[in-house]
Amino acid sequence: RLIILDFGSQYTQLIARRIRELHVFCEIHPFTHAPNLVISDDIRGVILSGSPCSVREDGAPNPDLSHILGRVPVLGVCYGAQLLAYQGGGEVLPATIREYGRARLAELDHSAPLLAGMHVESQVWMSHGDTIKTLPAGYNIIASTPEVAVAAFHIAGQPTYGIQFHPEVTHSTEGKQLLRNFVVEICGCDQSWTPEHFVDSAVEALRNTIGETDQVILGLSGGVDSSVAALLLHRAIGPRLHGIFVDNGLLRKDEFAAVLQAYEGLGLNVTGVAAAPEFYKALEGLSDPEAKRKAIGRTFIEVFDREAHKVEGAAWLAQGTIYPDVIESVSVKGPAVTIKSHHNVGGLPEKMHLKVVEPLRMLFKDEVREVGATLGLPGEILNRHPFPGPGLGIRILGDITPEKVDLLQRADAVFINLLKQHDLYQHVWQAGAMLLPVQSVGVMGDERTYERVVALRAVTSVDGMTADWAHLPYEFLAEVSNKIINQVRGINRVVYDISSKPPATIEWE
Ligand code: XMP
Repeated sequence: RLIILDFGSQYTQLIARRIRELHVFCEIHPFTHAPNLVISDDIRGVILSGSPCSVREDGAPNPDLSHILGRVPVLGVCYGAQLLAYQGGGEVLPATIREYGRARLAELDHSAPLLAGMHVESQVWMSHGDTIKTLPAGYNIIASTPEVAVAAFHIAGQPTYGIQFHPEVTHSTEGKQLLRNFVVEICGCDQSWTPEHFVDSAVEALRNTIGETDQVILGLSGGVDSSVAALLLHRAIGPRLHGIFVDNGLLRKDEFAAVLQAYEGLGLNVTGVAAAPEFYKALEGLSDPEAKRKAIGRTFIEVFDREAHKVEGAAWLAQGTIYPDVIESVSVKGPAVTIKSHHNVGGLPEKMHLKVVEPLRMLFKDEVREVGATLGLPGEILNRHPFPGPGLGIRILGDITPEKVDLLQRADAVFINLLKQHDLYQHVWQAGAMLLPVQSVGVMGDERTYERVVALRAVTSVDGMTADWAHLPYEFLAEVSNKIINQVRGINRVVYDISSKPPATIEWE
């Protein structure tokens, strides 16, 4: 495996994903782990990530790397490269000219294994405020651009390299080649990290971990992660996996029945719990978004706990946690802030004395999908948009009643079905309708109406952290609006949300 030491760059996860795309397993560790990193046989190489810091600043990350350098191949990227130069006694200074964006390699040492197969004029992506002015003795330049003399270097006598550009972004056109050179040729990593290999080893690990008579409980949501976790566990332990799928009354139209049926079709042992009235009762009179989230989360735990207690011999709680939730985030420039409290089954394992098993905790989202496809998960679940745990509860602004849920479910279904019919569903990352707490005047036939407004939201995104509103065709939006207003009695106005995140969020609450 390969270790990526994270110095807080926004691109660290992207490096990991590129390496996984080469079918090589890698892990991200915060730079603070560097001193404890024991270079054993199974660590084939280390990558030092970029950072928003400058090596010249007081308090900038500067871990001792002496036990790593020279023992395994090391690649410093941007800050990582500057750190290598700085620690060796080189000079790192603020760049005098702009070094952001596209650049072209003007000179390139073709004999350097790191650059094998790359070309002069190759486009690389720069993003740094500091530049390496002088290199320590024994550090040799292997690539330059017209503006950046030290675009890449190699430390003589050891497999240590530094590069000032970012090979992980697609704008570095031969970046993948460079990473391949490092990971496969220089580190000698096996390219065996495939979905099939993952399934085999995960199933074996699950069988070894979970006792032979232990029962495992898993909360299913109809989403990709929990569904893939279920299939994997099912393959490992069969009917000793007990899936629990709760209808909180805030799912999409007809979703409870459809998803339950899909799970049954896959042979999974799943109990559907129709608990809508309990959720509506807990939500009565609440209109503050966080209060609604808490009420939904609390009720979910009550319902889930009750169902789980019916399973005799339950020893494990499985969760569909994925790698981005696990990576310890590095905060080098102030603490990370939680903007909304995202609900999960927190507190449940302790309360029920269950051990936690998380079969997907090393996978990125795209890998979860690949594994799901390998396990035969139907496309309808595999390619489903993300859907928030509190569901329509945070898409009905203000207080929630069953009537409002029904109204929103019908409007939302028109929107989603038309997205699918027009082949637009897969082109947006997430979509849905919001029921606004306003009424507006309209006219239908000869009659004046005073009814509700629905806002449509569709975004493009990679991970939900940032998002752009989807530029859906006007004709399509016209059709959705017409159909909602004609078919959903109680809605007489449809608007389209054209805000990006940030500063807006994807959900309205
Ligand atoms: P925002 O609205 O923060 O949403 O831009 C980003 C992503 O998170 C989802 N989301 C939630 N998911 N519980 C969840 O499980 C929540 O309380 C919650 N709030 C937002 C949202 O749907 C989007 O995918």
